[in-house]
Amino acid sequence: MSPRTANTAVAVHPLLAERWSPRSFDARHTITDEQLVSLLEAARWAPSAHNSQPWRFLVGRRGDTTYQRLFATLLSGNRLWAGNSSLLIAAVTAERLENGTPHHGAAYDTGLAVAQLAVQAHALGLHAHQMGGFDPEQLRTSLGIPDDYRPLSVTAIGALAAADLLPQELRDRETVARERRPLAETFFAEGWGNSFLVRHDG
Ligand SMILES: Cc1cc2nc3c(=O)[nH]c(=O)nc-3n(C[C@H](O)[C@H](O)[C@H](O)COP(=O)(O)O)c2cc1C
Repeated sequence: MSPRTANTAVAVHPLLAERWSPRSFDARHTITDEQLVSLLEAARWAPSAHNSQPWRFLVGRRGDTTYQRLFATLLSGNRLWAGNSSLLIAAVTAERLENGTPHHGAAYDTGLAVAQLAVQAHALGLHAHQMGGFDPEQLRTSLGIPDDYRPLSVTAIGALAAADLLPQELRDRETVARERRPLAETFFAEGWGNSFLVRHDG
């Protein structure tokens, strides 16, 4: 078990427990066409309200124009590490349903599609790191995104590299224990704030 594996009260599927968001990616790794299409299929087959599929994605492979344009939109902290990833994929959501009415659940659906993509990356032995730290207006302009679509995230995907290849200021964050709010402060029953408690000692 990797030291990055989630410390869960009981076992969860290894794909979920072992997924994490690294910063150290292998700059020599390239993704196969089959792996790439597998990632895109995982996102495409996400569920969505009324099967509206509000997501669209812009896909860049390291070295191509799309990748360079996506990389240029990243905030400086993300530019420190994300350029070694094999892929940068922007998730963009429709803001309206096809009949023109506002689609209030669109971001929920599109986030779910990215989650599926991230888990599929892990299933392929790759890693994914989502980023909200980018300039959405720059992304809109540089890649021609229409007004009724909104960029939500850019995800770096690639093969893991050693933590000590990172700049010093990022190294410690790569190995620190992953943490989450406790179950009892997250899951409620009989009213807001009352812990939903369940025996989990076997
Ligand atoms: C929508 C979203 C935006 C994020 N934005 C950034 C970001 O801009 N830069 C970054 O380094 N990590 C970013 N992250 C990664 C989170 O910091 C990370 O998922 C969280 O700390 C939990 O760590 P884990 O994914 O390893 O479990 C983002 C994650 C999500 C889901």
